[in-house]
Amino acid sequence: MSARPAVQALPAYKPGRNPADLARELGVERAVKLASNEVAFPPLPAVVQALSATAGETHRYPDNGAAVLTAALAAHYGVAPEQVVPGCGAVMLCQQLAQAFNDPGTTIAFAWRSFEMYPLLAQVAGARSTQVPLVPGTPGGSPDTHDLDALADAVDESTRLVFVCNPNNPTGTAVRRAALERFLDRVPETALVVLDEAYREFVADPDVPDGLELVRGRSNVAVLRTFSKAWGLAGLRVGYLVAEDPAIADAVRRTHVPFSVSSLAQAAAVAALGSADEVARRVAAVVAERDRLTAALRERGLEVPDSQANFVWLPLGEPTAGVAAALESRGVITRPFAGDGIRVTVGTPEEDDLFLAALDAVLDTVGTGAPVA
Ligand SMILES: Cc1ncc(COP(=O)(O)O)c(C=O)c1O
Repeated sequence: MSARPAVQALPAYKPGRNPADLARELGVERAVKLASNEVAFPPLPAVVQALSATAGETHRYPDNGAAVLTAALAAHYGVAPEQVVPGCGAVMLCQQLAQAFNDPGTTIAFAWRSFEMYPLLAQVAGARSTQVPLVPGTPGGSPDTHDLDALADAVDESTRLVFVCNPNNPTGTAVRRAALERFLDRVPETALVVLDEAYREFVADPDVPDGLELVRGRSNVAVLRTFSKAWGLAGLRVGYLVAEDPAIADAVRRTHVPFSVSSLAQAAAVAALGSADEVARRVAAVVAERDRLTAALRERGLEVPDSQANFVWLPLGEPTAGVAAALESRGVITRPFAGDGIRVTVGTPEEDDLFLAALDAVLDTVGTGAPVA
């Protein structure tokens, strides 16, 4: 039995390394995983409470319309419930968007490198990917920042979706208000611009706009957010889309996999929203640690762009895979993008110190110029 050629061409699923297995394999007490951009804090107390209260209802299907969560999100952000769609993680909403808007042969445009799911979901949808290279955010630096002028130039009559990942995964850089507004003004109404703000909560630069403000008055713009990162619900799979035009939300709802947002996920997300103050305190700690980690890496002579997310980017180029393998052999799991760079999630100060010590050992062995495993 053969799958569709587009599916056969997808990369085979490769499970991420588990730190407990790695520690056992290396015979060390502890390995750390800084690879998936989760937050290191345990679930919020209100979330744990909501989960135990909901556990007794899990013999029933969840509310397929996620009405309570939708209303809570609408109230939290001051929009109408018709403009909001929860989904089984932001990634499933990306897939629903492609199903809802891309006929085979149409195009999805996005910067590259960016969130690795964009080209894959285009491939599954039978859509073409238009990938617009990142440009250096600082003169002479590595390409790490959206080129919004080139992205707008790349939009044509076949383009149905444009993803702008802000802050960008994996480089952490963010586009500023004036540039993004100019870009949105240029994109024709025939293309839906999706501002993927999975890391919005970690933005500290006041000049990086809140997509929910930009959406207002723009009928071809939507915002994607997730409870997986700042809100600490990665294991429960819940994200949401907000659009100015309820027709966009309606189209995404029509492609919803029935009951894919579990009752536990819905209850946990509502409880998390009720703990926004605690989340803001946790985010502030992550941002402070991000700044410490960035400074520590720069002190070591490494190029690290300013990150507005909960990870940092090391544009190592050619030696990337070797450095990541060497870090892993010292008990630190990062996320390499071969030939390009390593993305390192901001962990606890202790985890980050373990990473820095492992990195020092790797760079000492082989030097900054050409580190190898
Ligand atoms: C840019 C971006 N968008 C969307 C997602 C998906 O988040 P989730 O499916 O966990 O809600 C991620 C997760 O890593 C991401 O980095």
